[in-house]
Amino acid sequence: MSILDDVKLDGKVAIVTGAGRGIGQETALALAEGGARIVVGDIDMDPANETVEKIKAIGGQAVAVAGNVTAKADVDALIKAALDNFGSLEIMANVAGITRDGMIHKMSEEQWQFIIDVNLKGTYLCCQGAVGAMRDLAKAEGDKKKARKIINFSSVAGLYGNKGQANYSAAKAGIVGLTKTVAIEGLIFNIQCNAVAPGWIDTRLTAAKKEGDKFGIPDKDRQQTLMYMNFMGIRAGVPQDISRVVYFLSCDLSNYFTGMCLNVSGGLKT
Ligand SMILES: NC(=O)c1ccc[n+]([C@@H]2O[C@H](COP(=O)([O-])OP(=O)(O)OC[C@H]3O[C@@H](n4cnc5c(N)ncnc54)[C@H](O)[C@@H]3O)[C@@H](O)[C@H]2O)c1
Repeated sequence: MSILDDVKLDGKVAIVTGAGRGIGQETALALAEGGARIVVGDIDMDPANETVEKIKAIGGQAVAVAGNVTAKADVDALIKAALDNFGSLEIMANVAGITRDGMIHKMSEEQWQFIIDVNLKGTYLCCQGAVGAMRDLAKAEGDKKKARKIINFSSVAGLYGNKGQANYSAAKAGIVGLTKTVAIEGLIFNIQCNAVAPGWIDTRLTAAKKEGDKFGIPDKDRQQTLMYMNFMGIRAGVPQDISRVVYFLSCDLSNYFTGMCLNVSGGLKT
């Protein structure tokens, strides 16, 4: 078999959470370009529909499902959409994530819990739902189980810490432990579970935060990081820098690779 056959995703079905924007949208497009049929999950329906339109425009197949990854019923609906619409599930990319920054001495319990819920609990529920469905599919296949993939989203903040991100760093570090355990439990079903830890990627999460905005980074903090990166010769990443690595973790090239977290930061952290 040619190495290029292992790159193709024809016949596979993928769920991508947080697929309405940024890295999730780019991941959904990349997997669709490879031949996978996609369930586009996002808490915001309009951006999710936009992603579906973009996938259809390149000749792919996709359905949008609105839902919050912190709600088990919403996660169950994502899995059901994959099985009902496309009859299978080979790839689960758990991209949905969010920040709510603040120094620890000022961080409210609500701020802490919200970030743990969306990033860590959301990833747990998505892993749980995907593993359940993938186990059933693998059992039905008997001895010749297809490789199936779960890709979680950590961050360099989870591996190295980051000023103002105690909540987010804790959640993203937790995702590394979760990933390793899901990888071990997935072995006999041929499920590989890995994580990516992006550095700085230009998306809504890293955009300049204006007064009253819920998303983004205050301009002063932003400029400091960007100046440091510029000084070191590190360019700001784009979503495609991450979706390319998620693609590798989603296709048959990575069938002997599991339980790992890949730092994808262009040298911001080494
Ligand atoms: N941008 C970066 O520099 C960076 C760095 C490290 C890690 N990450 C991680 O990459 C992932 C994608 O981030 P991004 O930069 O593309 O952000 P983004 O804000 O552009 O996209 C995130 C998407 O997730 C969706 N979402 C948020 N909360 C949700 C919920 N509860 N349920 C379902 N969907 C939800 C949003 O609606 C949005 O469309 C996140 O897990 C983030 O933590 C990003």
